Amino acid sequence: MNHVMLIGFMCSGKSTVGRALAPLLGLSFIDLDRVIEARVGPLLPFVQREGEEAFRMVEADVLREVLAASPAVIAMGGGTPTVASNLDLMMTAGTVVWLDVPMHALMPRIERAGGDRPLLFGLKGDALRERVQSLLNERIGIYAKAHVRILSDANPMKLPRSDRGRG
Ligand code: S3P
Repeated sequence: MNHVMLIGFMCSGKSTVGRALAPLLGLSFIDLDRVIEARVGPLLPFVQREGEEAFRMVEADVLREVLAASPAVIAMGGGTPTVASNLDLMMTAGTVVWLDVPMHALMPRIERAGGDRPLLFGLKGDALRERVQSLLNERIGIYAKAHVRILSDANPMKLPRSDRGRG
């Protein structure tokens, strides 16, 4: 069970990095949120209808199934490791990598692409910023338990083939 598990706040680039990394490692890529969606439908209406706790229960079930299957690069949801039993399981299932994106780089991404996230839905301007900051404050100590931290303050991108392997 040697998975590579990407964690970090919403819009930290877990899916982008995971999709680029998986073929290089010869592993398949799994986006946990997409597996959850295949089960319950789009996340926003599901969380609005059933609540966050119901979402966390499905998430924990799906996580267990995915971790029990073949090794893969897995992009977790931003809140997946905030459930202690999820993080415990992840820490023994392979390598947990935290994409640490500081607020100044995170906020523009969230403003651009975070609108459909159930935990941020309907928030704008200062209210959005305050919500992000308070979730980040709650979570930072949890993310910091990862095996590896990658400070990622620019947008992830795949380098052209000729640049790979330098430095
Ligand atoms: C969540 C992050 C989302 C998704 C759900 C809850 C969170 O995933 O799992 O909306 O609690 O931070 P992304 O981190 O991929 O946006």
